[in-house]
Amino acid sequence: MIKPLMRLIIGFYGPRRKILGMECSGVVEAVGSGVTRFNEGDEVFASTEMKFGTYAEYICVDQDGIIAHKPNNMSHAEAAAVPNGAMTALMVLRKSKKAQQHTLEQNQKIMIYGASGSVGSYAVQLAKSMGAEVTGVCSAANVNMVTSLGADHVLDYTAPDFTQHLEPHDVIFDAVGKMEAEARHTALKKGGVYLDVLKATDCLKLHLEDLLYLKTLIEDGKLKTAIDKTYPLADMVEAHSYVEQGHKRGNVIISVSD
Ligand SMILES: NC(=O)c1ccc[n+]([C@@H]2O[C@H](COP(=O)([O-])OP(=O)(O)OC[C@H]3O[C@@H](n4cnc5c(N)ncnc54)[C@H](OP(=O)(O)O)[C@@H]3O)[C@@H](O)[C@H]2O)c1
Repeated sequence: MIKPLMRLIIGFYGPRRKILGMECSGVVEAVGSGVTRFNEGDEVFASTEMKFGTYAEYICVDQDGIIAHKPNNMSHAEAAAVPNGAMTALMVLRKSKKAQQHTLEQNQKIMIYGASGSVGSYAVQLAKSMGAEVTGVCSAANVNMVTSLGADHVLDYTAPDFTQHLEPHDVIFDAVGKMEAEARHTALKKGGVYLDVLKATDCLKLHLEDLLYLKTLIEDGKLKTAIDKTYPLADMVEAHSYVEQGHKRGNVIISVSD
């Protein structure tokens, strides 16, 4: 997922042409007469969901949409990645509770498979903030990064003896949808919950209160954004090519301003 840095115009209508991009952070350039939540000059971050349109220098966003004031301890680049990556991680973790009456409780063991991607890197931190004991799974090159995000244990999925080191977990969150069946069966307790990002996100709806909750976690120092690379808007094709290789570390950012 690409996250552009941009300016925003609040209170008019959404984009009519299909410009891609679903999340952003930027500065309010102007507000409509009925806008009460924001003022010109406010720093905000937002998801436009399926309306897209954030790969642009300006966008109109409804004040009642998924938009909030940017966390005061994050740059625009860091904040731009939160609305989709972190919200997805949060909603999938919560889905385990609602859909299956399963609660991520203090000291429960959760494995985040694909902990070095956008969703995975946020999921590690969110699970820690919920009090769980977290095992992050990534390749050797990303062990330091996943450790720095707070994982209690980190396993290298490329190691030949990977499956031999697996212990049973209460919850597995496959944040890249690539965990093999053998590893899954070994690493999941009987009666445990397996969450696959590819299946769990089908019917998820973003809510403003979740973005506000994430903002609180960020400002409390419990959630940060891992950035791999930042590209200028003109290099969008290169940015997409890089992301589509499937090996980004955390998030890739598109910077619209200088
Ligand atoms: N990002 C979002 O906002 C968002 C929102 C909704 C849904 N999704 C979906 O969620 C999935 C993950 O997206 P993402 O953006 O977080 O990350 P991604 O770009 O799909 O994945 C990148 C990470 O996956 C790791 N990886 C690749 N193959 C792996 C494997 N076989 N086992 C374990 N890790 C592996 C890579 O590390 P190595 O190179 O070291 O292996 C890399 O760090 C995608 O299917 C995406 O469509 C994403």
